[in-house]
Amino acid sequence: MEVKISVRRFDPDSERPVARLQEYDLDMTEASTLLDGLIHIREDIDGSLALRCSCRSAICGSCAVRVNGQAGLACNTKLTDAMPKDGGPIVVEPAGNMQVIKDLVVDFGTFWEKVRAVDPWIQPEGPEPQGEYVAPDEDMVHLAGVVSCIMSGACVSDCTVLAVDPSFLGPAALTKAYRFVADPRDDANTQRLTALNEPGGMWDCTRCMQCVQACPKSVDPMGRIMALRDQAMEAGFTNTTGARHATAFSDIIEHSGRLDETKLTIKSHGLFNVREMIKLVPIGIRAQLAGKRPPLMHKAIPGVENVRRIFKKVENKR
Ligand code: FES
Repeated sequence: MEVKISVRRFDPDSERPVARLQEYDLDMTEASTLLDGLIHIREDIDGSLALRCSCRSAICGSCAVRVNGQAGLACNTKLTDAMPKDGGPIVVEPAGNMQVIKDLVVDFGTFWEKVRAVDPWIQPEGPEPQGEYVAPDEDMVHLAGVVSCIMSGACVSDCTVLAVDPSFLGPAALTKAYRFVADPRDDANTQRLTALNEPGGMWDCTRCMQCVQACPKSVDPMGRIMALRDQAMEAGFTNTTGARHATAFSDIIEHSGRLDETKLTIKSHGLFNVREMIKLVPIGIRAQLAGKRPPLMHKAIPGVENVRRIFKKVENKR
């Protein structure tokens, strides 16, 4: 089977260290994976290609790359699945949101710093246990979905918030934080949730779902971030911009069936938060100039009572 693979090359030691695409023509079998193809390039065609891999079985997480624009594991991506329908080459690029060291190898330094920042270990309180801590089955079954994360960095690669705000903890670190918040053996939830309420924490996720799409182990990082938010609200962390935003969003929709962006902004930041209000003025001006300013008079949608009924139903179920 003939395959074309176009790899984004970058060599910091070359005369012109500029990223460029280099195309390779390969003869592979129907069963070959993208990693097979990349290894074939390195071993038989171009020994200068840098890539990272180890287990070749979707276990170690080291072969994450971007394939046709989306992060995934090279070792569990079949070439036949990755080939574009238009007959063009499979485009392979290094994982995003991390510094490229060479070709497909990226620096995981900031990734691990962020994971370390959430204190990824169990912090029990009280005297040292004398025996095994037997946790309820249902808790451990729930945690099994989270601990299947293999730290490939695929979610970080495709996170749209990290692309514009490197101070965001990111989906991998927040998922790791959730793993401990949800662990019945851990007693540090208050400290953990306090820290995660800070800017750059759980409230900075925009719910774009890219991390959910990219995760090769279906860990659902965004779902874990939302669960962290729920836990924080339930634990009484309601006086943060993020928590106020969530509450105001839901109240406004229940009231009028559609979003009132002006009210949402004011309720999220607080009308008397002068500094934040002043910061929003340029955004308001830009919105006005672009014809995107929300209407001054916000009206409820026709049939809003149906929306309210949905809210009632959900509240009664809680
Ligand atoms: S080589 Fe280990 S996950 Fe791909």
